[in-house]
Amino acid sequence: MHNIVLIPGDGIGKEITKSVTTILDTAGADINWVECKAGEGANNELGTPLPEETIEAIKKHRIALKGPLTTPVGAGFRSINVALRQQFNLYSNIRPARSLPNIDSPFRGVDIVLFRENTQGLYIGKEHWVDKEEKHAESIAVVTRDASEKIITAAFEYAKKHGRKKVTLVHKANILKLTTGLFLKIGKEIAVNYPEIEFEDLIVDNMAMQMVLKPQQFDVIVTTNLFGDILSDLASGLVGGLGVTGAANIGDDAAMFEAVHGSAPDIAGKGLANPTALLFSALMMLEYLDQPKLAEKIRAAVYTVLQDHKEDCTKDIGGEGTTQTYTDAICNILKD
Ligand code: NAI
Ligand code: MG
Repeated sequence: MHNIVLIPGDGIGKEITKSVTTILDTAGADINWVECKAGEGANNELGTPLPEETIEAIKKHRIALKGPLTTPVGAGFRSINVALRQQFNLYSNIRPARSLPNIDSPFRGVDIVLFRENTQGLYIGKEHWVDKEEKHAESIAVVTRDASEKIITAAFEYAKKHGRKKVTLVHKANILKLTTGLFLKIGKEIAVNYPEIEFEDLIVDNMAMQMVLKPQQFDVIVTTNLFGDILSDLASGLVGGLGVTGAANIGDDAAMFEAVHGSAPDIAGKGLANPTALLFSALMMLEYLDQPKLAEKIRAAVYTVLQDHKEDCTKDIGGEGTTQTYTDAICNILKD
């Protein structure tokens, strides 16, 4: 029995986590869900968006499945997602993008897994004003050998474990010669240890074009934080969007699985939320727990529902159903 911290979160979070736990329980996953609070709801109720009990529970059980959290724009508390990644040094952000049956997209046969460095780069927001008048701002990108080695090794290890053929490292080392230059240099060093895996590097602007021109040429991708932020959403866009792609944040001591979309306040409580993204994140969690067969069984049930029971799917992916009808359709197949 695995104890997994479950953070339903805000907005549609309750609905989609309920759906996902129902599907995993129906499939026979051996999980004890330890429900914890975070986000706007926790802030309103307990005066903090990230209660100490939640942090303690993740420290203890080391694995969390997290729904979306509402982050106030402008004033108010900082992003809890970013805080959790930093607190537990979840340096690998892993975002698969796989073409799905019967999902509207001009691209077929896409099967990409993107590894984004999650703790450094330009993304960390180390910014300052140069002048008192606030007419000149600067931002600092941080890249270290340690963190780069970790994420690039994680990408190669994943490729090796999953029989992937190629790792593409994305950078801008022609211009940002020190920061992304270091990242590229380390990539070339690590690639030598994996002679069975093809290694290539691409400059990020070319990469953006290539991903749209011919996404099928990419397999595993590894890149720095901000490029990964952008390219991982691009990759999601190739297969139907953020509603149908999962994500994992993995460190040496803890892992957090989450959907990348937000709390969707516009549809919260209406039964319209699509749980697929969180479900695919939960399947990554099952793989992390060394239960790939169970993950595959659930994935197959989802594919069958997308293919043969489209009417039961939620409206955002062209169905006529609700969170409940979609969940039931998947569970009915799992029970057979
Ligand atoms: P959003 O992703 O919540 O919504 C954008 C659009 O996509 C909306 O029309 C929404 O209805 C739709 N949508 C999103 N998820 C869906 C799902 N599972 N099924 C069906 N439709 C779905 O992005 P938005 O509106 O920019 O942000 C809302 C709140 O979520 C903000 O407070 C933001 O800070 C937070 N947020 C949290 C994230 C997280 O916890 N990982 C990530 C992104 C945003
Ligand atoms: Mg993003």
